[in-house]
Amino acid sequence: MTPPVRHPQTLAEAAALLRAGDVCAFATETVYGLGADATNSDAVLKIYETKGRPRFNPLISHCADLAMARRYGVFSPLALRLAQAFWPGPLTLVVPLTPGAGLSDLVTAGLETVALRVPGHATARALIEAVGKPIAAPSANPSGKLSPTMASHVRDAFADTVPVLDGGPCASGLESTILAIDGERVVQLRAGALPREEIEALLGQPVPIASADAAIASPGMLKSHYAPGASLRLDAPAPEPGEAYLAFGPEPRTGGPMLNLSPGRDLAEAARNLFPFLARLDASGAGRIAVAPIPATGLGEAINDRLIRAAAPHD
Ligand code: TXA
Ligand code: MG
Repeated sequence: MTPPVRHPQTLAEAAALLRAGDVCAFATETVYGLGADATNSDAVLKIYETKGRPRFNPLISHCADLAMARRYGVFSPLALRLAQAFWPGPLTLVVPLTPGAGLSDLVTAGLETVALRVPGHATARALIEAVGKPIAAPSANPSGKLSPTMASHVRDAFADTVPVLDGGPCASGLESTILAIDGERVVQLRAGALPREEIEALLGQPVPIASADAAIASPGMLKSHYAPGASLRLDAPAPEPGEAYLAFGPEPRTGGPMLNLSPGRDLAEAARNLFPFLARLDASGAGRIAVAPIPATGLGEAINDRLIRAAAPHD
């Protein structure tokens, strides 16, 4: 058996791993990312191998600030406005790739666009700054599984074979919102921790959701994703016998395992609890998890998106 990996204790140790072309998981304000130097193809390859991720699914490049991001992507006035309003923060912008800027082709999966974000977690930005390069990072979970919101989730998901810089629990608990920018046009490719309403309020115009065709252009928008082992039954006011229950607001009577995403119906609290609570109910051994109805507004759009994917048939 391979011995457990030695986890970096300081930002400098984590930066040294990344500079040496190794992977290292780190906290962002959304979920933990599995990072590697985005300019080093050997390093980026290790991300795909570690996650078992299909190579056609490109990665987000995390930058220390807007200036770094502008070296790798072409920002239209609209893209600049969004970046200035919401970075650092849980927004990923897909913009035209700057040719020859040095990003590994594996990061973009050969596309002519690049996904960029400046994370809201100060340690994450300091880490990127210390490496001096953008850090490619998908969520630090085996492909298709629940995203990690604590260092222990990452250690457990990879049986302690992946180094993790512990940055505490993630503040938002859902992945970033992804927008594709084409000149002055914008579409949402993935609902996420930045509610669409906030983006619309800034722009003063509706932000359409990408059609299924365009979602193929964001190859990670696979139907089954974020999947627990148990099956899911959504919009369930109460559990049936044998089901575990994920409540939101008032709790029905049940003899089975139950967790409440937010007794006070607070969507930010529910977003933070979503992945860890699904994982805990999954571990309770119930074959099926019934989930309470959750409003689709604000952060509810992303919460429902993740639940629908988690409920989709998978092996
Ligand atoms: O909050 C987050 O976004 C987390 C943290 C670690 O930053 N990261 C994350 O990465 O969720 P990942 O790999 O799980 O999701 C990235 C998504 C995928 O659906 C991928 O297909 C899409 O971004 N993507 C990346 N580059 C793209 C591009 N050039 N065009 C369209 N979609 C792209
Ligand atoms: Mg992911």
